Order: sequence, then structure tokens, then C-alpha cells
Amino acid sequence: MEKLRSFKSFRHLNIDLINEENAEELLDAQAHIWNHIFNFINSMCLKCAIQLGIPDIIHSHGKPMTLSLLISALPIHKTKAPCVYRLMRLLVHSGFFALRKVGENDHEEGYVLTDASKLLLKNNPLSVTPFLLAMLDPVITKPWNFLSTWFQNEDPTPFDTANGLTFWDYGSHEPKMANFFNDAMASDARLVTSVVIDKCKGVFEGLESLVDVGGGTGTVAKAIAAAFPQMECTVFDLPHVVADLRAKENLKFVGGDMFDAVSPGDAILLKWILHDWSDEESVKILKKCKEAITSKGNKKGKVIIIDMMVENQKDEDNESYETQLFFDMLMMVLVTGRERNEKEWAKLFQDAGFTRYKITPILGLRSLIEVFP
Ligand SMILES: C[S@@+](CC[C@H](N)C(=O)[O-])C[C@H]1O[C@@H](n2cnc3c(N)ncnc32)[C@H](O)[C@@H]1O
Repeated sequence: MEKLRSFKSFRHLNIDLINEENAEELLDAQAHIWNHIFNFINSMCLKCAIQLGIPDIIHSHGKPMTLSLLISALPIHKTKAPCVYRLMRLLVHSGFFALRKVGENDHEEGYVLTDASKLLLKNNPLSVTPFLLAMLDPVITKPWNFLSTWFQNEDPTPFDTANGLTFWDYGSHEPKMANFFNDAMASDARLVTSVVIDKCKGVFEGLESLVDVGGGTGTVAKAIAAAFPQMECTVFDLPHVVADLRAKENLKFVGGDMFDAVSPGDAILLKWILHDWSDEESVKILKKCKEAITSKGNKKGKVIIIDMMVENQKDEDNESYETQLFFDMLMMVLVTGRERNEKEWAKLFQDAGFTRYKITPILGLRSLIEVFP
């Protein structure tokens, strides 16, 4: 009733906001808006927990960690001790920590990790922390404030509107941003590669050489080179990305621009590349990759793409679908790219002169696509 009365005060706006029947809907709508306004609080509290090292501190404790023990282990000012409970309460609610009884007969509770926070531990080889810190760095979050401005101007991306140059040019001028971005990519590459090599071994068997175009600092190519010692692997990326990287055994690094030419190989790998680029740019890249494929005897080379396939899980898993939509918007804001559904992928392959393709779903959101000339 109290709430109803406060809504009734909108009557002077001459909007039929309130009657007994729609009061509940109105409150739901307000809660929906509030939760969307404050979605960033989830991201920022998670970032804060990572920066304070909370997952690692709880992990090192080895058993449920009481609030008082957590507070004493945290690198914080003593005046902030009472605030830790509030931060942890939100992070328990959002599924990053859970509360468990400390001992058998004890009434005290302590914090434990969940599957999500285990994936944020510093020493977890599959840690997502570098990706989280990169995506929530002010350089990456600033362009979101320019999204509506960008809709009204001619700039290629909101990143350009915010910073005056493209994402890739910014990286070549700002080593700090290039480093955290490369670390972020490497952390994802470790996660995906571990699955790809395990689940899709057949995709790489029989290949004598592979070029990882836009392969960053070489995380994927290193793993493939180690799993297939007979295969010559090349990481091809912008000169400033590979400048300090040295060849080792069956792995080498080549600097260049994939819009000019790509190093030759039986298979050309494009992991998380084409989603960075528009359809027109992607077709240009694919054509360069097609030219670079070496076909020996009867063996036909191929392009191997590891990227998202939008709408492939729409009905089954709403959270995954939302993640794909988020990534699509991220590509719009940072670069000129987009996430694509199967029909859109097929059109790219056709426009670049490829004849057929084969999709293998690999890891929730990601698929591996073999594309044949
Ligand atoms: C999203 S990252 C993907 C990195 C890596 N493939 C992975 O998945 O971890 C895109 C990569 O493309 C590289 N890149 C951007 N423009 C390029 C160009 N014109 N020629 C070659 N590489 C380029 C970037 O330096 C970056 O390493």
C-alpha cells in the first residue's frame, strides 16, 4: 500500500501508471531497470576481489575461511575491515564464493571457492583473470561511454571515438595496453587449446605445417607444436607483437600484415580473428589465407577457424546466448567486427571462394570450423 501511494503521486503526469492490478508489474519493471542500471556493480566488485587477491587467499587457507580470518589476511586499511562482509555478501550472491560450516560441530561459517572463482586463481593454468582485468581496464571500458555518440558520427568504432585511433593502432603505441591484451588472449588460448587438442586431434593429424594467423604471443601454436612435433608451426602477427619472440624447435614467429600476405602452410589457423573484422575485411583475410594454403599431392589444405557461432544454443541455454550477445556488442565497441551465425559464416566462406566447411562445437560458446578451398 505504501508503495502504491507513492506511485499515485505520478498522477499529475497524466500517465495511467497505477491501479490495483498493475502495481506489481510496475514494481517488477522498476526492479528490472535497477538491476540493469547496476549490472556494472557485479563486474566491479569481482574485479576488486581479484585485485585484493581474495580467491587466492581463500584457496591458500585450504578450508572454509571465516570473515575475521579473511579480513586479517587481506591487504586493506584497518578502517575498511567492516566493509569486507558487504563485498563478500554480494560475491556470494553472484556465485563467486559460497559459505560452509567451518567445523563439524561449529556454528561458524567460512567462505569457500566455487567453480567460477577456481577459474580465477592466479596459478590455475586456465585462469581467466588476465581476461577479466583486461576487459575491465579503463581503456576498454571508456569507449562504452561513447556508444550513442558513435551511433551519430562516422567513426568506425566507439573505441576510435573515445581514443582517436583504432584498437590495433592504440596497442602498437601503448605497450602497457598491448601487454595486458596479449595476456588476456593467452589466458583464453590456454583454455580453448586444452579442449581443442584433446577433442579435435583429428583436425590436425597429417598436416605438415600450420600458420596461426593473428596468433598473438603464440600460446595456441606452442601447444599445437608440442602435441604434433612433426608439424612446422608459425605464429604470424603484427610486427610489434612478435618482435621479441624467438623461434624454438618446430615453432617460429613471423611479423606481417594479414591484409597484405600470410605465411604459407598446409593449414591456416584463425582463432578469435574474424570476429574482430567486418564482413568485407573478413573476406579479404580469408582470400589471403586461401592463397597461403599449400596443397601437396592429394592432400588438401584448409583454414581452421575457432570462433563463436551465434544462436547455436538460443533455446537450450539462455546464459550462453546472453554471453554471445555481449561479445557481439564488445566487437562493435572495440573493433569493426561482429559475432556470426552459421548462415553469416557460410556467406563469408562462399564470398572468399571456399567450397565447403565442417563445424565441430568445442567449448560451450565456441566452434571449430574447417573450411576447404
Ligand atoms: C583477438 S586477438 C586473438 C589472438 C589469438 N589468436 C588468440 O585467440 O589468443 C587478435 C590478434 O590479431 C592480431 N592482428 C590484428 N591485426 C592484424 C593484422 N593486420 N595482421 C596480423 N595480425 C593482426 C592482433 O595483434 C592479435 O594478436
